[in-house]
Amino acid sequence: MIKISPSILSCDYGRMADELKGMEQCGAELMHIDVMDGHFVPNITLGAPVCKCIKKYTSVPFDVHLMISEPLKYVEDFCKAGADIICFHTESESDIEKTIDKIIECGAKPALAVKPKTDIDAVLPYLEKLSMVLVMTVEPGFGGQSFMADQMEKVRKIRDEINKRGLPIDIEVDGGINGETISIAAAAGANVFVSGSALFGAKDRKKTMDEFKEKANKAFVG
Ligand code: DX5
Ligand code: ZN
Repeated sequence: MIKISPSILSCDYGRMADELKGMEQCGAELMHIDVMDGHFVPNITLGAPVCKCIKKYTSVPFDVHLMISEPLKYVEDFCKAGADIICFHTESESDIEKTIDKIIECGAKPALAVKPKTDIDAVLPYLEKLSMVLVMTVEPGFGGQSFMADQMEKVRKIRDEINKRGLPIDIEVDGGINGETISIAAAAGANVFVSGSALFGAKDRKKTMDEFKEKANKAFVG
């Protein structure tokens, strides 16, 4: 199933509640919450207390993307703050297996992310436990960067592997997704699309969301 996960990194932080409600009305299937610690990536965004506050304004599941050095330390906080999916990076300092187990124990769905320079093989040993794999299509840290088409090889590889093993895992792409690149990613086998600047910056967000879904559905190869 095709899902759009608007990245609140590009929203007006002073009007977050309204921005979330607006994206829900536009038909977002997930809400992408970018958490940055100024250490794992050179930018700082928000933590669990903010996540908890905004949770009450929407019923759209929270897709929390942890770009932090020690995700294991904060899994419980984010689960309590309403995270439905917790995605962390293979490149973080936390033990991957322990972090996945902790996410499951706390009642959320675990997802693993890889940065552009990381081989997708890094997620393979954990696939059976995961609900989603995130292939970054920009260097994490900032919105508004250009889509890296060379990451599609990873998407194809992980789609093949998931099909071979018959696993019900989503493949998410994050970074530079717009009306053109969404078709490229869907054709490679991605089915969850994060979009920050293209969606929040659109003149008509509902129309853009509908176009994204139409294009992704048309191009998707599962
Ligand atoms: C980047 C974040 C993304 C970002 C995407 O590190 O993980 O979620 O918000 O923004 P766009 O869609 O503008 O590339
Ligand atoms: Zn993200």
